[in-house]
Amino acid sequence: MPSDTTHFRSVIITDIKQETAGVKTFTVTYDNRERVSYAAGQFITLVFQHHGQEERRSYSISSCNDLIEQLSFTVKRLDNGAYSRMLHDKAKVGDQLLVAGISGLFTLPQSIQAGEQFFFFAAGIGITPIYSLIRSLRIQQPETAVVLIYSNRNQEEVVFYNELKELAAKSNGKLRIEFLYSTAFNLSRARLNKALVRQLLNEYKLVSVKHLYSFVCGPHDYMRMVIYALEENGVADDRIRRENFNVNERPAILAMPPDTNAHKVTLIHNGIRHEVICQYPDTLLMAAKKNGITLPYSCETGRCGSCVARCTKGEVWHSYNEVLMDMDLRHGSILTCTGYPIGGDVTIEV
Ligand SMILES: Cc1cc2nc3c(=O)[nH]c(=O)nc-3n(C[C@H](O)[C@H](O)[C@H](O)COP(=O)(O)OP(=O)(O)OC[C@H]3O[C@@H](n4cnc5c(N)ncnc54)[C@H](O)[C@@H]3O)c2cc1C
Ligand code: FES
Repeated sequence: MPSDTTHFRSVIITDIKQETAGVKTFTVTYDNRERVSYAAGQFITLVFQHHGQEERRSYSISSCNDLIEQLSFTVKRLDNGAYSRMLHDKAKVGDQLLVAGISGLFTLPQSIQAGEQFFFFAAGIGITPIYSLIRSLRIQQPETAVVLIYSNRNQEEVVFYNELKELAAKSNGKLRIEFLYSTAFNLSRARLNKALVRQLLNEYKLVSVKHLYSFVCGPHDYMRMVIYALEENGVADDRIRRENFNVNERPAILAMPPDTNAHKVTLIHNGIRHEVICQYPDTLLMAAKKNGITLPYSCETGRCGSCVARCTKGEVWHSYNEVLMDMDLRHGSILTCTGYPIGGDVTIEV
């Protein structure tokens, strides 16, 4: 169903840059030329109509907020991709895009202690949030040791190659980068695998694993392998941040909540209080939508973090959650897209 688009803000494309053969960066401002504010590691969610349906796509922000840069996002063109092809083949400077929101939890920790080290693992287009995070970190914490392990097929496909080399050259050895190419002759430094993760950790690690933060972004199998390897080498799960771009597939079997009764949900959104009834199989997000309340969301599968909210009363159970860590859950964070009220009424702040 075509949707009411009046609650979305629009942005104007002010610049388009070709990065590599299949990757372009788009810079945007609000249509009144006001700068869009964001944090390093977050993503922008864009809305478009496709065959009469409202669809959303999220893109990690590649610009650096600490340098007061206008918001940029960097897109890989997919041959059959509806929106990435439109952006690559049709979008031009001056075009308007609709924005559903800016969100994401793939951000730097709130406080960084001296003696902590950051390992970033990126593959292909997964560099986008990591490029922004590294640049922010270099500005906020110039003395912090940072390592980037960046995998691509070959050097021509490396996005931000020159920029990263320059950043490392100016870092007094604080930023060290290992570019890995799966087509390299030297197979011991080609495709990243668990043994190579261990070897690179040993080679670059300057502190004990309990002082390491790692950030991982790339294809699903790559991320799974890197996360297992980090855990096997003693990095605690809550020190491994992950950003998953592949949110299209829904888990084959969705678990059923332990309580499927209807419950009252008090939703506080933009300071306005709404009361709705949520009855399984509706999630909190579906119940809000049915009542005409427009909450932020993107993937609707518990994988991106656009719909994060806070439960201030009662209990929310998730059928799927790839985003919130135990610590976030303990602090009351919930996902409305896969969340169900259980055991009684709940209050949710968005
Ligand atoms: C938090 C987050 C951050 C992200 N950040 C980035 C980023 O920084 N840069 C980036 O490039 N992407 C990013 N993505 C991915 C992005 O949101 C889109 O998923 C991506 O651009 C593909 O969208 P699309 O509309 O072009 O493709 P879709 O139309 O959604 O197609 C997706 C896939 O299905 C295939 N496909 C489509 N139609 C068919 C068909 N008829 N038959 C067979 N196969 C088909 C396509 O080839 C493609 O592989 C991010 C995603 C998330 C969730
Ligand atoms: S909308 Fe993506 S996690 Fe809920």
